[in-house]
Amino acid sequence: METDFLKKNIITIIEKATSVETSLQSICDFLKKEISYYDWVGFYFKNGNKKELKLAQFAGEPTEHTIIPFGKGICGQVAISNENFVVQDVNEQDNYISCGWKIKSEIVIPIFKNDKNIGQIDIDSHTINPFSKCDEELLEFVCKQVSKII
Ligand code: SME
Repeated sequence: METDFLKKNIITIIEKATSVETSLQSICDFLKKEISYYDWVGFYFKNGNKKELKLAQFAGEPTEHTIIPFGKGICGQVAISNENFVVQDVNEQDNYISCGWKIKSEIVIPIFKNDKNIGQIDIDSHTINPFSKCDEELLEFVCKQVSKII
């Protein structure tokens, strides 16, 4: 993974974007295009005062899981744990919300604003066991940049 190239581009995308929405959309499109095993890339954020996540921008096939209660699925668990969740094989997870048979693995990284968990970036992959520490590092960087503009 060309982490430096990817990070530089993320910064440029955010600098050039005219709104938070276009920024998040461009980040999703960019990561999906550049990283072969990123087949779905999306942002979920806490839905107001409710204990649930709401889908924001994404790249990839539309999902019916636009609202996810805290605690449900990989995303809902990260909303509570405040920790990265790397799932190399979704078949090994009981508390998992399927977005289709093609999805084999998933990584979710929380976004913090003023030390509060406000949302997350969620990546689905059609490949088993694709993620390394480099993905976590890159996505933590993305989340830090996003938290600056939210
Ligand atoms: N698989 C997720 C649901 C969201 S989709 O991946 C877009 C989960 O278990 O929380």
